[in-house]
Amino acid sequence: MPPRTSLTTPVAIIGGGPAGLLLSHLLHRSGIDNTVLEMRDRDYTVQRVRAGVLEHDSVELLTEEGLGDRLHAEGLRHEGIYLQFAGQRHHIDFADLVGRHVWIYGQQEVVKDLIAAHDANNTPARYGVSDVEVVGIDGDAPSVRFSQGGEDFEVACDFVVGADGFHGVSRLAIPEARRTTFERDYDFGWLGILAHTPPSSDELIYALHERGFALLSMRSPTVSRLYLQVPPDEDIADWPDDRIWDELDTRLGLPGWTLERGEIFDKGVTPMRSFVSTPMRDGRLFLAGDAAHIVPPTGAKGLNSAIADVALLRRGLVEHYQRQDDATLDAYSETQLSRTWQTQYFSTWMTRMLHTFTGPNAEFDHRVQLGQLAQLVDSRSARAHLAEFYTGLPITR
Ligand code: FAD
Ligand code: DHB
Repeated sequence: MPPRTSLTTPVAIIGGGPAGLLLSHLLHRSGIDNTVLEMRDRDYTVQRVRAGVLEHDSVELLTEEGLGDRLHAEGLRHEGIYLQFAGQRHHIDFADLVGRHVWIYGQQEVVKDLIAAHDANNTPARYGVSDVEVVGIDGDAPSVRFSQGGEDFEVACDFVVGADGFHGVSRLAIPEARRTTFERDYDFGWLGILAHTPPSSDELIYALHERGFALLSMRSPTVSRLYLQVPPDEDIADWPDDRIWDELDTRLGLPGWTLERGEIFDKGVTPMRSFVSTPMRDGRLFLAGDAAHIVPPTGAKGLNSAIADVALLRRGLVEHYQRQDDATLDAYSETQLSRTWQTQYFSTWMTRMLHTFTGPNAEFDHRVQLGQLAQLVDSRSARAHLAEFYTGLPITR
């Protein structure tokens, strides 16, 4: 077997999703070299349709770091959301309640902007790598082995960052005896569509209906994004376009309001899960984003949590290299796990409040949800609680 080609980099980042690409960009801006290893090709990473809501602090961070031009030109700033239940729609005014707001800007667009910045800085990720293996995280000289284009490599580094998502390999490099996972499954998923039609609402509508949850979101003034609660193993082939629109009409419809239909150009079913792996650091390996935690999408927190992780990691790595101060890195796991559990709380709360559940208590629980929502829209402090979480916990950077 030919020997592995040796490479070196201070920080090896596994995964070229939003977490990995953003960390790489932040480190580059702070003068810390790094290498991103991504198993897919570049086009695939840009085409994945995922999250759509950026929190207040996420937008501030992206803007500060030179990634805000298109976001501010094309993103949609929203001052609140609508909650709909029992045939009525109620506005939750974040700007009034907490003086913060959110932006609608697709994860795909964030990834495109990151790739453009990497191209401009001449720091592209290595795409199409395979057989990634993390080695030696217990010692002072970790490395990452991988193959690319038929050649085997080993990149020696000071730190490895696992930003390779839920199905990645980094988390598994932490020995099982030192790792604990916490999980919660749901007996539903979301059927999501993208359609060429102007959004039928100025802001997002989260609706509880007895037939299940529905969400009206958007990507631009001409593209709508809509979701329906469905069984987790639902076959998308059973959902021709008309059935999707009819069901959206039923769950979102109100007298005097019309849901505009249009050409559906993307559709799929996403299962839902809650997952946390602890700790988020083992020796020289740090986990960030979906590699460490997954939330159900109802609170729109997945992407924003990944951004928060890498913002703190950048700070820790800068302090390490510039001041030989490891306090932030040493506290990283504890700090981000505390944040993660708060985000899990909010996402679980939103999910339980807005989805229909099956089983012997379903009828009772549905009425409890209606009581909860009625109190929420009547109480300023309850609305402020939602607004504070939805617009996002502070991002330390
Ligand atoms: P990822 O985006 O998963 O990126 C990880 C990267 O690592 C990928 O590019 C992957 O190809 C790469 N990788 C994996 N394994 C390896 C390996 N062995 N070697 C090298 N590279 C590897 N959140 C919301 O808030 N709202 C939503 O509507 C929403 N919808 C979603 C829909 C889907 C189908 C999924 C999967 C997630 C969704 N999320 C949503 C969650 C949100 O998109 C994630 O939280 C976000 O992508 C996390 O970013 P990340 O960089 O940590 O992980
Ligand atoms: C979107 C996704 C979410 O999970 C959410 O809570 C709101 C909006 C979206 O894809 O637009």
